[in-house]
Amino acid sequence: MIIERQEHVTDAVVEAFGNTADPRTREILIALVKHLHAFARDVHLTEQEFEKAVGIITAVGQKTTANHNEVVLMAGSLGFSALVCLLNNGNNGQTETTANLLGPFWRMNSPPTESGGSIVRSPTPGPAIFVNCWVKDQSGRPIAGAEVDIWHSSPEGFYEQQDPKQADMNLRGKFITDKAGHFSFRSVKPAGYPIPVDGPVGDLVRATGRHNFRPAHLHFLIFKQGFKTLISQIYSNDDDKLETDVQFGVTRALIGNYVRHAAAEPAPAADVKGEWYSLDQTFVMESGKARLPRAPIQ
Ligand SMILES: [Fe+2]
Repeated sequence: MIIERQEHVTDAVVEAFGNTADPRTREILIALVKHLHAFARDVHLTEQEFEKAVGIITAVGQKTTANHNEVVLMAGSLGFSALVCLLNNGNNGQTETTANLLGPFWRMNSPPTESGGSIVRSPTPGPAIFVNCWVKDQSGRPIAGAEVDIWHSSPEGFYEQQDPKQADMNLRGKFITDKAGHFSFRSVKPAGYPIPVDGPVGDLVRATGRHNFRPAHLHFLIFKQGFKTLISQIYSNDDDKLETDVQFGVTRALIGNYVRHAAAEPAPAADVKGEWYSLDQTFVMESGKARLPRAPIQ
């Protein structure tokens, strides 16, 4: 069609995209065009602002390398990753879920570890934590033989691949649930950490007057055929940034009961000195297709 006025542009694009062969691609493209055009009309986007937007999106791509993903970081910083997660878990957004963001630091092939074992693989000062987990289906039946990847930051707030002081695969392990759907492990209590702010995400964080921290958390990826792979993070209930997570990851269901124990209280291991922590956590898996995500960075 020949465009006569600004109102016609949207109709022209929608008409042109109407021939898209794949129905789902057609649905997504047409909705995207309608919302994008409505957005420009809504804020009456100026030409200078459009130019700036092009610069921001270009910079997000250029900032992304094999070991840094600014796109994932930006999606999180806009709350978009959290929204997509909650739309697709908890019976498609109807009920509570322990599903959460993958984050950039998951790696394939975490070291297989016996239940009850430690994932501290090089000296990592910090309070010990003893974690007990149960994995169940939606009827409350234990799921045996689920593979569970654990990974988390050090008490200084660094993942092993960011920190030359840590051994390869430090604070990572792969566990298998027993007949009761249970596994346990020992580690050190993770700390919250800043997201990188030397790119366009940093500009967004500063423009909106936010801090750039994530509250402390443990990461989980639970894989078992017949179930939708459960990617989760369990946040530390004593962290003061639960309500202001720069990535909007924290939901009520994901705040773990990290229990602090005084040094005088006997710990599950004799060598524990000083205060220590314990955490009991249950995960519910939904029926579905098991699949592994693509690691966002190498
Ligand atoms: Fe993380």
